Amino acid sequence: DVEQSVGIRGRILSFVRAPNGAGDEGSYVYLRDGMLVIRDGRVEAIGPASELEGTLPSGAPVTRYEHELIVPGFIDTHIHFPQTQVIASYGAQLLDWLTRYTFVEEQKYSDPGHCSRGATFFLDELLRNGTTTAVAYGSVHPQSVDAFFAESEKRGTCMVAGKVMMNRNAPPALTDTAETSYADSKALIERWHKRGRQRYCVTPRFAITSTQEQLEAAGALLREFPDVYMQTHLSENLDEIAYVLSLFPDAKNYTDVYDKVGLLGPRSFFGHCIHLAEEELQRLADSRSVAVFCPTSNLFIGSGLFDLANTADAKRPVRIGLGTDVGGGTSYSMLQTAAEAYKVMQLKGQNLPPISAFYMMTRGNAEALSMGAEIGSLEIGCFADFVVLDSKATPAMLHRMETIEDLIEEELFVLMTLGDDRAVRATYVQGQKVHDRQNSS
Ligand code: GUN
Ligand code: ZN
Repeated sequence: DVEQSVGIRGRILSFVRAPNGAGDEGSYVYLRDGMLVIRDGRVEAIGPASELEGTLPSGAPVTRYEHELIVPGFIDTHIHFPQTQVIASYGAQLLDWLTRYTFVEEQKYSDPGHCSRGATFFLDELLRNGTTTAVAYGSVHPQSVDAFFAESEKRGTCMVAGKVMMNRNAPPALTDTAETSYADSKALIERWHKRGRQRYCVTPRFAITSTQEQLEAAGALLREFPDVYMQTHLSENLDEIAYVLSLFPDAKNYTDVYDKVGLLGPRSFFGHCIHLAEEELQRLADSRSVAVFCPTSNLFIGSGLFDLANTADAKRPVRIGLGTDVGGGTSYSMLQTAAEAYKVMQLKGQNLPPISAFYMMTRGNAEALSMGAEIGSLEIGCFADFVVLDSKATPAMLHRMETIEDLIEEELFVLMTLGDDRAVRATYVQGQKVHDRQNSS
């Protein structure tokens, strides 16, 4: 059955390329009275409502948002699905935090019932926050990834995820082996990769919890399935780095541990990348790998301040993603994540213009995933995954907005600084409303 076209009318913002600083109006399309025409889950047309209204078939339903702002669905390029009950755990830096909290909670995902309840909660929470695509770590248990993809498939979302591979320095109940991690990951790839909108991500947790043999198995999977993704953690915390170098005495540096086994590349996502040396940045840039900035986590776990300007330096630009890193991160909201990114950059003497932040959350993260033609913008042919934002959602926002006339960049800054899930009026996936703030608790 071919669906009939439907219209969404309101203020619409979508990026066409990365902004070159504040005020770069050529980087986005902003329609004050715009129309999105959606058919079969994708954008069929976008433009001024006055031009498109007449093209809709008579009787086609049009949903109108009077003062809200419609932007592409947010994309979170680093999050842990089994850490919904780890978020907000007190008083520890990375290695203690993993042992005291994370490795305890993740053991519960051996139970398929816990996995499916967790997946339901997690995807509800993402959509409540306007996040329509995420790059997620599962637990070591393949059933966690089955539950996650099954739930995503039900909702029609595009998700990227993988089973964590970890075979040492963790409780026995949370470890696999090089062989079983290879076989389980391979079976999950065959079951889920490119099934509808689901994509697989080979997921060695980090160098501390994998032997050389297991990292080699991860590299073998990438060679065998060249279009799957890869995610791991890199250079988050100083004690972590020292430990890695003691475990891999032959490596030139932390990045080299992954490089030696073939884990760098344009589909590889490295969480954190806070304390990298120049030669490591050079290798990430040369291999077109992605460094994922996770500001709420880096501040909360006390890991350090990501140097975005240096990492992305045009002399050897490393590609950048933005992620929440829940449960090390403290918010599911990409708006709050952008607010904390701004503050980290302030401490580094750098700028994060609001258009750059909104670009990163949408098209920037889509391009990091090489999915710019499918998600992250509202261009014709893209999936109609979008979020309807209310810049006046709270008393503080309403009050602040009284001073802003018609300046989209100022409004975006209010949205990211003061906004969170309360500013998400509705979320749509493939043109279907999957969250409405007025109908939710
Ligand atoms: N390094 C290894 N595992 C993790 C994790 O679960 N969270 C964070 N933030 N860092 C990690
Ligand atoms: Zn993480």
